[in-house]
Amino acid sequence: MTNSTKNHWNSIYSTKKLNQVSWYQPIPQVSLDFIESLNFSKDAPILDVGGGDSFLCDNLIELGYSNITVLDISDVAIQRAKRRLGNNANKVSWIVSDILNFEPKEKYAIWHDRAVFHFLRENENINKYLNSLLEGLVENGRMILGAFAENGPTRCCALDVKRYSFEDFNNLFSDRFTIVKTQNSIHKTPFDTEQSFNFIEAKKK
Ligand SMILES: C[S@@+](CC[C@H](N)C(=O)[O-])C[C@H]1O[C@@H](n2cnc3c(N)ncnc32)[C@H](O)[C@@H]1O
Repeated sequence: MTNSTKNHWNSIYSTKKLNQVSWYQPIPQVSLDFIESLNFSKDAPILDVGGGDSFLCDNLIELGYSNITVLDISDVAIQRAKRRLGNNANKVSWIVSDILNFEPKEKYAIWHDRAVFHFLRENENINKYLNSLLEGLVENGRMILGAFAENGPTRCCALDVKRYSFEDFNNLFSDRFTIVKTQNSIHKTPFDTEQSFNFIEAKKK
């Protein structure tokens, strides 16, 4: 999966501007609200999985968070994010990796994923992701994950996705996690369309 997935995303990030992709969001308010509501210390390690060139890290730096890692399969996305952040790029740790091959070298207090997990459709890959997640989170660490909801889009940038209802989240995560909160959120794309997302906050058991 790695090479074709990487080429796919690199080609998107090489040809589309920031606000020419459906997931563009200058202020990722839902994610920020979830993270802020945890009241974790500002130096708690945060991993943004598939962060791409999202503004989450800019906003977290602004809020005083000091231990942020962004992981993405696309080196082009990460270069773009670094360029945009300028000197602040040094405040972030960057990892270019397919999440399916990711072997966390440290443990994170917060694992954030917006619009990445839903691209995994085969059980084998979903299980690989879950293993990295469990490996990468500290005890009592939080996963904050946003995926297309059951009434959300079926595809994104030419890829099929797997959509998640709250019940699907429950079936998938409740063995290993205590579900703290779920929330639906309607994302307005730069093309004036709407996408229904379901978010989950869950605590590692
Ligand atoms: C729809 S974008 C979302 C970007 C960002 N999370 C946001 O909310 O703005 C999906 C991102 O996931 C990355 N991605 C896709 N598959 C991946 C994988 N298997 N491993 C790591 N990153 C991946 C893409 O490069 C892209 O940056």
